[in-house]
This record gives sequence, structure tokens and C-alpha cells, in this order.
Amino acid sequence: MRKVAIIGAGIGREHLSAYRALPQHFEVSVICDLDRARAEEIAGDIPVETDLATVLAMGVDIIDVCLPPHLHVSTAIAAMEAGKDVICEKPIATSLSDVDRLEAAAAKTGRTVYPVFQYRFGIGVAQVLHLIRSGLAGKAFAASVETHWRRDADYYEAPWRGTWAGEQGGVILGHAIHAHDLICLLLGPVAQVSAQLATRVNDIETEDCAAIIFTMESGALVTSSATLGAGDDTSRIRLMFEGFTAESGLSPYAPAVSEWTITPRASSLGDINAALSNVSAPPVGFEGFLQAIAVGQDAVTLAQGRALVELVTALYAASRSGAPEHLPLSRTHALYAGWQA
Ligand SMILES: NC(=O)c1ccc[n+]([C@@H]2O[C@H](COP(=O)([O-])OP(=O)(O)OC[C@H]3O[C@@H](n4cnc5c(N)ncnc54)[C@H](O)[C@@H]3O)[C@@H](O)[C@H]2O)c1
Repeated sequence: MRKVAIIGAGIGREHLSAYRALPQHFEVSVICDLDRARAEEIAGDIPVETDLATVLAMGVDIIDVCLPPHLHVSTAIAAMEAGKDVICEKPIATSLSDVDRLEAAAAKTGRTVYPVFQYRFGIGVAQVLHLIRSGLAGKAFAASVETHWRRDADYYEAPWRGTWAGEQGGVILGHAIHAHDLICLLLGPVAQVSAQLATRVNDIETEDCAAIIFTMESGALVTSSATLGAGDDTSRIRLMFEGFTAESGLSPYAPAVSEWTITPRASSLGDINAALSNVSAPPVGFEGFLQAIAVGQDAVTLAQGRALVELVTALYAASRSGAPEHLPLSRTHALYAGWQA
């Protein structure tokens, strides 16, 4: 049983529900928010604090950072130095130099940082991963990714959103990052990116539309379209392998919640169905994310979080230069210390 402090009562509310669904693994000991009333609204019997330093001095095992992005790295490092493991909402950091600081703090303190990427968890992704690992997918040819969500002026009332100082990025940092994490998980490392980014929907500093091409190390070509100006919220991923095509549903925030449509190509439907009969459904979303940490299997790693920060860095670099950007990026890269405009 691990004792948890949730810091930030916005998305922290959904984390709390997931902890409550796993009482054999986690107990939420305290909820911390500068806005006491907001924390009390979700806390029930759980004690509420407004001061992070007080929480860090408490006997909890995990600090779950659900704060605005510009507070993630400093809070995560303070937590590790206080002897706690860290669960950190996306983005774990907004520069590769800050990821280096997180990695150094983790190495020095022996603590673990788990970046939050909960879209991975659920039957749809579990099935496709199993088919890939069992050899039925074969060569990945191409993929398409859509993050077509709607965000209006009310969403930007939180003062940190839409700003370089607060959110530190737009749709490629805060929204499409989940689908891009899935692409990295299912198709492997990215070798090159090209990107066009624009602010076309809301009156904000950061981008809210993106057209992206990824070349994966395998050679697979991936296109990603992202906007916060859709009529409603949908996400969709299509993966074209030698063995079959896999297509997610349209669930915007939990693409793994249902089985993906598998259309056979070189692999037979019989072989695919036989392989799928071995896959059990893990819990969806945050619950699956937390269960993976609890059982020590398939937990999201800091190295995987780093790959996404590196990807975002490369996307900003490519969009600004107009030229393809090759990965991995070195510590001498012009945007190593951040892409903030
Ligand atoms: N994984 C996901 O699907 C997902 C979804 C939504 C948000 N997020 C991420 O979660 C993070 C928080 O987003 P949100 O929508 O909950 O934001 P929010 O603004 O609704 O909530 C943040 C809370 O942090 C509190 N806070 C700010 N500074 C604090 C401090 N120093 N000490 C204690 N409390 C403090 C604020 O009072 C606020 O209640 C962001 O990084 C966002 O990108 C992730």
C-alpha cells in the first residue's frame, strides 16, 4: 500500500477516482491545492493542505503532480529530494535540459518519476501491442493520427493556458502528445519530423493547429493532424502494417477503451483471433496507468517521457526552420534549453 499526495485538484480529481478504484495498492493521504475550496470539493474525508512544503514533510510515498506545466520540474525535484517517488502530469518538462535535471535528481535520490500517459491503457492498445509482439503485424508501412478537439474561450480562462510562460506550448505539447505517445509506443522511435504549426482557433500565444509528418526509425511514415477547432472531440489512430490494418474508435480521451478494428492483410483472421484470445483487458486510462506502477509492469518510464519532450522540441524546431529535424537531438541543439517563444 503506497501513500499518495495529490498536488493540484483539477485533473487531480480524475487521478483520485483512479486511486480509489485501486484501494489494495494506494491510499490518498492528502490533497494539496492553493485553492483550498477546490481541494475540499473533491477530498471527502481526505485531509486538505494548501502548502506544498508541508506536504513534502509528510510521510507519503508518492507525490502526484497535477499542477500547471511550469511548476512540474521544480515540484518533482523537490519531491524526490524529500525522498518521494513522483507521478507527474504531462508535460513532465518543457525542455530537454529540464529532463536532464529530472534524470539527475532521480539518479541522485534513487527515486522514480512516472510521466502520466494514460491513453495507453485499455483493451484496444493491449491487443495491438500483443499482435505486434507476436509477429503478426510485420512491417509498419504508414499511420495516421487525428487529435481533433474543441477548446473555446472558457477553456483559456485558467490564466496559465495558451501562454508560453504558463502552458509553455500549445496543441503539440498539451493535447496531441497523448496520440504521439501511442505512436512511439506502437511504432518505435521517431527518426525525423516535419511540421507546420499555426494559431488559428483561439486568441492565444501558443499554437492550436498542427500538420506533422513523422518518419519512424523503421521507415514507417506517419501523418498527424491536430486542432482545437473541431466541432466536437474525437481522436483516431490508423496503423497500416504488412499483416493488418488497426483502427481505433473515436473516443477522444481513451482511445484504448474499446477494441480496435483489425482488418487482415498478410496475416489470417484466424491467427489474429487466436492471438487476441490471449489478451486480457487491463483497466482503462488513469486506473490502468496506476495499476502498471503498482504491479511494476508496463509503467510509463522517465525515458519514455523524455522521448516525448524531445519530439516536441524537434516539432518546434522543424516548424520554425521549415526543414526536417532529425532525432535524437544533441545537447548542443539550439532548443535544448527550451522552445518557448
Ligand atoms: N493526462 C491528461 O489527460 C490531462 C488532462 C488535463 C490536464 N492535464 C495536465 O494536468 C496539469 C494540470 O491541469 P489542470 O487542467 O488540472 O489545471 P487546473 O488549472 O484546472 O488545476 C491546477 C490546480 O493547481 C493549483 N495550484 C497551482 N499552483 C499551486 C501550488 N503552488 N501549490 C498547490 N496548488 C497549486 C491550482 O489552484 C489549480 O487548482 C497540466 O499540466 C495539464 O497539462 C493532463
